Amino acid sequence: MPWLQVHLITEQERADLVAVLFENLGALSVTLGDAADSPLFEPAPGEQPLWSRTRITGLFPGDTDTDSLRQRINQAINRETTKDLSLEMLKDQVWERTWLDSFQPMRFGSRLWICPNGQRPEGESGVFIDLDPGLAFGTGTHPTTSLCLQWLDRHKIDGKRILDFGCGSGILAIAAIKLGARQAYALDHDPQALSATRDNAEKNGVSGRLGIVSNGSEITAPVDMVLANILAGTLIDLKPKLTGCIRPGGSIVLSGILASQSDDVIQAYAGDFRMHPPEQAGDWVLLEGIRI
Ligand SMILES: C[S@@+](CC[C@H](N)C(=O)[O-])C[C@H]1O[C@@H](n2cnc3c(N)ncnc32)[C@H](O)[C@@H]1O
Repeated sequence: MPWLQVHLITEQERADLVAVLFENLGALSVTLGDAADSPLFEPAPGEQPLWSRTRITGLFPGDTDTDSLRQRINQAINRETTKDLSLEMLKDQVWERTWLDSFQPMRFGSRLWICPNGQRPEGESGVFIDLDPGLAFGTGTHPTTSLCLQWLDRHKIDGKRILDFGCGSGILAIAAIKLGARQAYALDHDPQALSATRDNAEKNGVSGRLGIVSNGSEITAPVDMVLANILAGTLIDLKPKLTGCIRPGGSIVLSGILASQSDDVIQAYAGDFRMHPPEQAGDWVLLEGIRI
């Protein structure tokens, strides 16, 4: 079934009004987004800030009368606001999978490749990981994952035992095993992530060395390395738990941290870890520490 997508850009103060109008006119879903490249990072719990210029998108049934809908929106909102109104028809597709069409093999560091199922980069050698994230986070396209993959590519992983805390698609744990880790654990509180990790582990032939766990009680001895790409606030809250998983002399690799939050995370971990200077990619940093 095709869909009609209606976009309207408006000022922050009018965004809620337009969202309610779209719902009243029959929108099946209404989404609010940034219309002026002014990102909002990690609002406090309960806060729902909006962008100064907000794009409101309504999804209507494909057989909606577009002339009548345009007229009713124009009547409800003054002309000043509706100059930014646009309508487009969308073909029906399996939306959560469409991005895979443009997902090409990507290299991280000198030898690590993340490939959509079965694809290989022509004429290249290296360590290949077949990946389908399913509905979980973790393809390598996000800078926070990319920082971790590049870190893994540069470091000696051979023979190590590793915990990927917040595994999403399992990308970091699988990469660690393919780079030589003796054993890895992949932990997540989201069942969809555990299911995607299980599928990806099988595709890559590493299931025998990967323990998929939902809380960590299954990990009997401290590991050599913990990788955690979550968010700064969660990493600070999880510090006692993550610290308890690592042997003295072992490493912690933390990602998902905005550059502006780096000092807070370093401060939280500094008592138990010798922290290295941050590595930065765009707005994001990766932190590494050695357990004292
Ligand atoms: C940003 S994704 C990272 C996925 C993957 N490791 C990567 O680097 O692309 C963060 C993951 O952490 C999981 N997560 C967040 N908080 C968690 C918690 N307290 N315990 C376990 N998993 C958590 C989320 O479900 C999500 O899959």
